[in-house]
Amino acid sequence: MANIFPPNTNKRFYGGIALAALVIALAAGGLYYVNFRIPEYEPVQPVRFSHKLHAGDLNMSCTACHSAAQRSPRAGIPDTKSCLGCHQHILPNSPLIAPLRQAADLQYPGYTGEPVRWVMVDRLSGHAYFNHMAHLNRGIGCTSCHGDVAGMERISAPRDARMRWCLDCHRDPAPHLRPLEETGSAHYSATDYLRTHSVHDGEGRRIGTQHQLGEYLKRQWKIQPKTDCSTCHH
Ligand code: HEC
Ligand code: HEC
Ligand code: HEC
Ligand code: HEC
Ligand code: HEC
Repeated sequence: MANIFPPNTNKRFYGGIALAALVIALAAGGLYYVNFRIPEYEPVQPVRFSHKLHAGDLNMSCTACHSAAQRSPRAGIPDTKSCLGCHQHILPNSPLIAPLRQAADLQYPGYTGEPVRWVMVDRLSGHAYFNHMAHLNRGIGCTSCHGDVAGMERISAPRDARMRWCLDCHRDPAPHLRPLEETGSAHYSATDYLRTHSVHDGEGRRIGTQHQLGEYLKRQWKIQPKTDCSTCHH
């Protein structure tokens, strides 16, 4: 009878385990790699709204649409009626505008009142408390956290909403501070701002760099973001 367990079974067995371990390690490594390489989550929206067009090309400020950010914890999604303020006149017959008119234009033959259901991408898991107003009114701008939205055809999730990211800035906010009237601006750059505005520090010296501006605003406004746990975890 042929030996079904050849003499080197043990070696093969351990070889097999080693191979399986290698495969698992590679797969896990692959997953890790993929997970951290997925660029950013960009959902398909019911209306092909472009931030690049509205905030970029048309140069609308972020707060023109998301004005709630300055007075409430949430930034909110603009009401469809505010879109129609323009789109009743601009491309009103475009099929891309139809869902907006269907939702909110009573004169539109296809009016149904069915709201536009935007897909939201920015979400903390719910264990942490975040507040837009607390940042907007203290010199932190939309683009400091959401990135170059004016360059995005479709919106993607904020770079990183993990605790480490919050704390890094809370410990050292000065590099991010800007004049309050610029917090909602889609295209802020400290260099451009300081070239076109003359800002002076307490001693009357002209401020020329973000470093000087940040340190100055921090002192001026007594900015001191909290880092104790209860600030963000209730
Ligand atoms: C300040 C005026 C203004 C407001 C407010 C505005 N838009 Fe626009 N929108 C424009 C202009 C201008 C264009 C480009 C028109 C063109 O390409 O000729 C445009 C283009 C579009 C298009 C592409 C239409 C097509 O057929 O190519 C969509 C979709 C759109 N807007 C959606 C929205 C939504 C949704 C809102 C509200 C959240 C909104 N817009 C608010 C001015 C505005
Ligand atoms: C013309 C109105 C308009 C302007 C201007 C505008 N937005 Fe929006 N924003 C919208 C609409 C409509 C949505 C929902 C559709 C989408 O996600 O693209 C949205 C979604 C977002 C979201 C995603 C919310 C989520 O959870 O999915 C962020 C973040 C955002 N906007 C930031 C900005 C920033 C930053 C600026 C300025 C650079 C800006 N927006 C300018 C209308 C606007
Ligand atoms: C300090 C960082 C920070 C700043 C500044 C900031 N955001 Fe946000 N934003 C976030 C985080 C974090 C979330 C997710 C919050 C959540 O899920 O509870 C978010 C969520 C959003 C949302 C979707 C949910 C909502 O709040 O309605 C929109 C829209 C948005 N931001 C737009 C803006 C705009 C526009 C500005 C400037 C006017 C801005 N944000 C400024 C960090 C920031
Ligand atoms: C780019 C800088 C920056 C980032 C990123 C940031 N914060 Fe802040 N945060 C600030 C500043 C500045 C203040 C205002 C501090 C003050 O008023 O003295 C503040 C204030 C707050 C407050 C109000 C309480 C306080 O300290 O005054 C809360 C709550 C808060 N942040 C939560 C968060 C959370 C949660 C995140 C991450 C999802 C986050 N922040 C990310 C800069 C930042
Ligand atoms: C400035 C805001 C802020 C402060 C201060 C803060 N956290 Fe967090 N924390 C967060 C955010 C944002 C998350 C991520 C929530 C999510 O994933 O949606 C988080 C997540 C966590 C988690 C879940 C695991 C993880 O890392 O995602 C734990 C545990 C935690 N925090 C504990 C603490 C403790 C303990 C302190 C005090 C030493 C603290 N946090 C202070 C904002 C904060």
